[in-house]
Amino acid sequence: MSAKSKGLSSVGKKLINGLTGLGLVFFVIVHLGGNLTLFSSNPDLFNSYAKKLHDLGFLLYAAEIGLLAVFIFHIVSAISVYMSKRKARAYGYHMKGNAGGASRKSISSVSMIYTGIILMAFIIWHVISLKFGPGIDQGYTTVLKGETARDLHKLVYEYFANPFNVSVYVIVMVLLGFHLRHGFWSAFQSLGANHPKYTPVINTTGYILAIVLAAGFLLIPIWIFINTGGGV
Ligand code: HEM
Repeated sequence: MSAKSKGLSSVGKKLINGLTGLGLVFFVIVHLGGNLTLFSSNPDLFNSYAKKLHDLGFLLYAAEIGLLAVFIFHIVSAISVYMSKRKARAYGYHMKGNAGGASRKSISSVSMIYTGIILMAFIIWHVISLKFGPGIDQGYTTVLKGETARDLHKLVYEYFANPFNVSVYVIVMVLLGFHLRHGFWSAFQSLGANHPKYTPVINTTGYILAIVLAAGFLLIPIWIFINTGGGV
C-alpha cells in the first residue's frame, strides 16, 4: 500500500517537473526571439523591445512572479525525483544486488541534475548582471521616441566584450542544449506520450529545439564579442 502511494506521488512529481519544464522551454524560445534583435546594427530595436516589456508594468511583474514560481516548482520537483531515484536505486542494489535496465536511465538523470544545478547558478548570475545591472541612474540612458529609456543594449554589448563572460556563456549554452534535449523527451514520457508513433517525433523535435536554442543563444555573445573588437 505504501509502495503504491509512493509510486503515485512520484508520478505527480514527474508530471509537475515535465509541465514546468515545458513552460520553461516556452520562456526560453520567447527570450531568444527577443534577444535576436541584438544582431541588428540598430540598438533602438533591442532597447525598444525591452522598453515595451517594461512598459507593461504590473503585467510584467505578474509574469515574472509566475516565471519564478515555475522555476521553483521545476527545481524542487527535479531534486525530489532525483532523491527518490537515488533511494530506490540504493534499495534495489541492497535487495537484488542488480540494477538491471535502470542503470542507463540513472546516468541520464545524474547528468540532468548537474546541468540543472549549473543552469540555476547561471540564471542567478545572469539576472543579477543584466536585469539588476546598471540602469538609467548609472548612465545607461537612451532616448526612444522622445522618451528616456534604459540603454540595455549598451550594457549587453559591454558585458559581451569581456572574454570571460563570453566563454562562460558559450559553455553554459552547450549544457543548456544537453539539458533541453533530455528534458524535452523526458517531459513527454512523464505526460504519458510513450508511443512507437510519437516517441521518434518527440525525440527529433527535442534534438532540433536543443540545437536551435543552444546555437541561437551561443552565437549572440560570440557575435557581440567579434563586433566590439573583443576588448574588455
Ligand atoms: C546570449 C544569451 C542571453 C542574453 C543576451 C540574454 C539577455 C537578457 C537580458 C538583457 C535580460 C534583462 C532583461 C530586462 O531587464 O528587461 C535577461 C533576463 C533574463 N534572462 Fe536572459 N539572456 C540570455 C540567455 C538566457 C538563458 C539561456 C536563460 C535561461 C535558461 C535566460 C533567462 C533569463 C531570465 C529568467 C531573465 C529575467 C526575466 C525577467 O525577470 O523579466 N537568459 N536576459
